[in-house]
Amino acid sequence: MSFELKDRDGLGRIGILETKHGKVETPVLMPVINPKIQTIPVKKLIENFKAKMFITNSYIIHKDPQLREIALSKGVHKLLEFNGPLMTDSGSFQLYMYGDVQVDPIEIVRFQRDIGSDIGVILDVFREPDVPKEQVKADIEETLRRAKLSIKEKGDMLLAVTVQGGKYLDLRKYCAKEMAKLDADIYPIGGVVPFMENYRFRELVEIIMTVKQHLPPCKPIHLFGCGHPMIFALAVLLGCDMFDSASYSKYALDNRLMFPTGTIHLNNLEYLPCSCPICSKYDVSDLREMPKEERIRKIAEHNLYVSFEEIRRVKQAIREGSLWELVEMRVRSHPNLLEAYRVLKKYVDIFEQYDPIVKKSAFFYTGSESLNRPEPYRYAKRLIERYSPPQLASILLLLPDKGVKPYTKYYGDILNQIRKRGLKNVHIAFLTIFGVVPFELEEVYPIQQSVVPKIFDKDAIFYIGKQLEEYLTRNSYSKVFYLKGMNDFDEVVKEYSKKFKIVILNNINELPTNLTETLIDRNEILEKLRCVADYQFGKGAGKALFEKDKITWKRSRETGKIRYIYKDGELLLSLVPTSGFFTLTIKAAKILLESFKPPKLRVAVNADAEPFVKRGRSVFSKFVVDNDPEIRPGEEVIVVNREDELLAIGKSILAGTEFSFFKKGVAIKIRKTI
Ligand code: GUN
Ligand code: ZN
Repeated sequence: MSFELKDRDGLGRIGILETKHGKVETPVLMPVINPKIQTIPVKKLIENFKAKMFITNSYIIHKDPQLREIALSKGVHKLLEFNGPLMTDSGSFQLYMYGDVQVDPIEIVRFQRDIGSDIGVILDVFREPDVPKEQVKADIEETLRRAKLSIKEKGDMLLAVTVQGGKYLDLRKYCAKEMAKLDADIYPIGGVVPFMENYRFRELVEIIMTVKQHLPPCKPIHLFGCGHPMIFALAVLLGCDMFDSASYSKYALDNRLMFPTGTIHLNNLEYLPCSCPICSKYDVSDLREMPKEERIRKIAEHNLYVSFEEIRRVKQAIREGSLWELVEMRVRSHPNLLEAYRVLKKYVDIFEQYDPIVKKSAFFYTGSESLNRPEPYRYAKRLIERYSPPQLASILLLLPDKGVKPYTKYYGDILNQIRKRGLKNVHIAFLTIFGVVPFELEEVYPIQQSVVPKIFDKDAIFYIGKQLEEYLTRNSYSKVFYLKGMNDFDEVVKEYSKKFKIVILNNINELPTNLTETLIDRNEILEKLRCVADYQFGKGAGKALFEKDKITWKRSRETGKIRYIYKDGELLLSLVPTSGFFTLTIKAAKILLESFKPPKLRVAVNADAEPFVKRGRSVFSKFVVDNDPEIRPGEEVIVVNREDELLAIGKSILAGTEFSFFKKGVAIKIRKTI
């Protein structure tokens, strides 16, 4: 089995899953094909819809003597006339829906293997979500028993072991942990169809998050029976990789049209807000007047076009780092989805471990829930853990974000004035939606790369206040000034002015002139470099990198921003203008290795990998023997051997907690070698 990551956002990922019948890119939507009745023929599904993978029910094939015979003699691929990756289900769902499954749980796994299925599923026990807990517990034990026996039978078929547990999160956790111990290939989350049908999205989110935390990150997660485009973006954000859809034809049978924003019955449609080939060709009245069979087929096609389109949209969003923004649009389609999204606040710590450190897209504030995303959380966390204000600046001047960046440029005149007046111990910071942003960190992702409405909501005002309070509690200044200028921020500061003795200025001339106690020599550029280094690599990195020797820098001719930093004339670091972060050189890596004990900032590889790494080849995860668990995807890392000798520097694809799980695929992209 192999599954490797190509890109990621949130807990969502673009991956490559390898099967006997070829590779498939995830997130993948598998249309369900019924071997008996094909609403839309397989050939058409491939040609018109670009379907890459299917799922069919082995139970239906097994029950029908004729189909069984063909499948056993010629293989299930021949039976369905499809030569690509094919998954088979076991009949669990039929047992639940119709109670008519008369099949031995082990026999059905052997059967899936014998008909040449690429991915088979155990016969998991599936019941209504609200049955008593004792019953669900017993079902899980039976499902686990079957999973263990089935693993022995899988042969060269990939085996999916379903996590059940109804609505009981502790049972879901138990089931996931037990399943994770098995050598399975795919982990479906089962028993969730009733939650989706009844719009119980909050419980669905809790189930997925609970299960996901306890499953190996290197295995694909399949959300069983999820075929509605309104849930795809959210489900992918939570880490689901595979979806199957029978819904497209089930909904069509009831004249219901799917959209990424919900479902609309044909009776309630006056217009078709869609431009798929069906909706481009027909009007609502055409669909209504069609013979029933034809109408069902057309609606099924529309449903499928819309579903595949949404999957592509989700993948594009992962590529550009805007999956959170897409989800924030989607969850506004239904209050139950919004409620479900709001639950994610509880899990922000988990998201923070996997969310990339930098994204191609800016952080868009689309509502108060945006502040519960991992980006603001990470900023606040690093500010507490890694930031310390310049020692020589004992007075804080806070300036409100007025929507123009970079802040130091917008406030250029004021800053010049302060310098001219010789107010050398004044530390400049900005009050923003993320809380206090010291001038040193204004360019770091997502501060510089954020777009925020200039009228705040109550939650944002509350959040800013809490961040301000945190900052002023942790960092002691002899005096704090705030320059009025933006209503919402002014209100926040007023609220805390008593507690922290903040002096509110109506204009900058009100700043007292007698603030400089001694003549001190500050270098704001060095301060900035030091703080960014601490923020990026950890407290103490800035001191190690910049303090001893002669540091010089070169600015970009176009933007005037600092681009290259030299130590004794030799290149030490580059400052990436789009992210505000450094990229390392070998020289810088050596300094950091000396300053931080292993495994901090490091990824250690075994001897086999050493020659490849030295030649600049990517580090494959299977060669990694140890690593810093605090690494985030997209971070600069130092590659060493087992003896902690420097080999190279690069960018991590994986999060620190993932290295030990992945056995396939690239873990680190190397930029420079020794
Ligand atoms: N199809 C939809 N839900 C399920 C489930 O929970 N288990 C299996 N095996 N198939 C399903
Ligand atoms: Zn359409």
